[in-house]
Amino acid sequence: MYLTTVNNFEEYQNGKLGNTSIILKNMEIKGEKVILTPIKSEEKDEFYKLATETEGSKFWYGANGITKEKFFEDWNDSYFDINSPEKGQCFWIVVNGGKIGQINYNEIDLKNKKVELDIIIGDEAETGKGYGTDALKALIKYLFDNFDINKIWIEARGNNPRAIRAYEKVGFKKEDLPSEKENFEGELVDKVGLEFLRNEFLCN
Ligand SMILES: CC(C)(COP(=O)(O)OP(=O)(O)OC[C@H]1O[C@@H](n2cnc3c(N)ncnc32)[C@H](O)[C@@H]1OP(=O)(O)O)[C@@H](O)C(=O)NCCC(=O)NCCS
Repeated sequence: MYLTTVNNFEEYQNGKLGNTSIILKNMEIKGEKVILTPIKSEEKDEFYKLATETEGSKFWYGANGITKEKFFEDWNDSYFDINSPEKGQCFWIVVNGGKIGQINYNEIDLKNKKVELDIIIGDEAETGKGYGTDALKALIKYLFDNFDINKIWIEARGNNPRAIRAYEKVGFKKEDLPSEKENFEGELVDKVGLEFLRNEFLCN
């Protein structure tokens, strides 16, 4: 894979870099309503607070949360390092200059050509305004444009119909797999996997 550093998003958008992959350098991914900016290492604590202390956090870790130590075992340094784009990356979802949430892709499975996403908007008042779907669309385009992957997938719990609705609105389709259950806050809930295939992206 050839890696090229670009500082100018317009240059990249205009396709001047051909099929080369890029390293995000001070770079923003622009949606119609939101801008995605890479989360810096020094902003990790702010991300931990978003993921554990907001209205949105109950959909990620439930009411009991997660210790900071365990959290950063999962969210390792690669997520905050723009120099290793294939290892995963976290982004702030920015609206009118303010951070309203986070969206990320995990380490890219280059062998099987697929990658998983996660998303959270912290403040309930910022949900239902189309920001989540816009962030997903922008990140999906970025990933299909820059990595040799065929599938982007995301998982929701069955008791989170808003997330499932948002993902389907973007174009994700429920995966045709036997449903799996997980214990979430003492209750067995369905895990719903949704996928977005490159073919479908090219058709739209
Ligand atoms: C899930 C999330 C990212 C979606 O982003 P968002 O900006 O709220 O989504 P949008 O406004 O683009 O779309 C939400 C859709 O769900 C619909 N919706 C809201 N509540 C719903 C419910 N209880 N049942 C079904 N649909 C619902 C909305 O009407 C809207 O659909 P519409 O545009 O057709 O009317 C955001 O709500 C969020 O971060 N929530 C908290 C954390 C979370 O759940 N993360 C995902 C974990 S898998």
